[in-house]
Amino acid sequence: MEIKRIKRIGVLTSGGDAPGMNAAVRAVVRTAVSRGIECIGIRRGWQGLINGDFILLTNESVKHILPHGGTILYTARSEEFMQPGGRQKAVATCKMLGLEGIVAIGGDGTFKGALELSRIGVPVVGVPATIDNDVGCSNYTIGFDTACNTAVECIDRLRDTMQSHERCSVVEVMGRNAGFLALYVGIAVGASAVLVPERPVDFEKDVVERIRNSRLAGNTHFMIVVAEGAGSAVDIGKGIYEALGIQPRVTVLGHIQRGGSPSARDREMATRMGYTAVNALAEGRFNCIVATQEGSIEEIPIEEAMMMKKTLQMDRYRIMETMQLGNKRILMDDY
Ligand code: F6P
Repeated sequence: MEIKRIKRIGVLTSGGDAPGMNAAVRAVVRTAVSRGIECIGIRRGWQGLINGDFILLTNESVKHILPHGGTILYTARSEEFMQPGGRQKAVATCKMLGLEGIVAIGGDGTFKGALELSRIGVPVVGVPATIDNDVGCSNYTIGFDTACNTAVECIDRLRDTMQSHERCSVVEVMGRNAGFLALYVGIAVGASAVLVPERPVDFEKDVVERIRNSRLAGNTHFMIVVAEGAGSAVDIGKGIYEALGIQPRVTVLGHIQRGGSPSARDREMATRMGYTAVNALAEGRFNCIVATQEGSIEEIPIEEAMMMKKTLQMDRYRIMETMQLGNKRILMDDY
């Protein structure tokens, strides 16, 4: 079958930004240009496609953006795009600009929009980028590694002062409804306890007992990592005070985790994913998500991709517990 040669595509970033989005935009543009395809940057996500908010991107215009966090295309979450009327306006923009395909860089919300657009005839390819790492079809999402490293750096700093003052720290990390960020970070900082939404929290066992056991094992400072989806760090802090009489210091890392220069892993992954996305479109394979599966990058049909679920690796939870001082009683009790 002869593949129709495409001349012009659009690229957008949507939803919460993630370090490495710029690297993905650069890869999309450079790959497109190398194949003789013009690339239009759609600004402010799906809302920009509705509004016809665009910029012509060239190899020159994506020079120097590789190491920068954020996204030069801006990002947004669009309510209007979730309505059929909004999507019709987006289709009109595609026709007006002569866009023969869209590369959408973002997370689950972005891909819901991409799926709807694909159903009304606009070819799309999704590139997973979110610090939450919660896209079901992909082992990895751009931005996760950088966010983990940022959180670890912050918590290491907190630990210095917690250690000197012999205090307890409760740190809330992002992740929306997923605990990937919290668990990976918890392992990397040697947390006393990690609370994730995927595992029901038993405050007495998961927090109070762990701090007590750690104290009995000789520890005088404690680090509790809470995923935002598992509860509020402020409430956990109050609970610790009531149960143990120690006054924890509470830190909500918040949007700090979304900024900063992308790590080598995120730059490399974003470049490979952006490259794969454009090649898929150019070779007539569209309406898919480019997703990592066991290290390689696969093109998964979007309808199928949106049904896929990813679960938190509970073996990692057990590893985290095993590393704790005073772990013996917890492990014997629980398993
Ligand atoms: O999805 C990325 C994320 O940073 C989540 O971890 C968090 O819950 C949410 O976005 C915060 O969104 P906003 O930037 O709109 O406050």
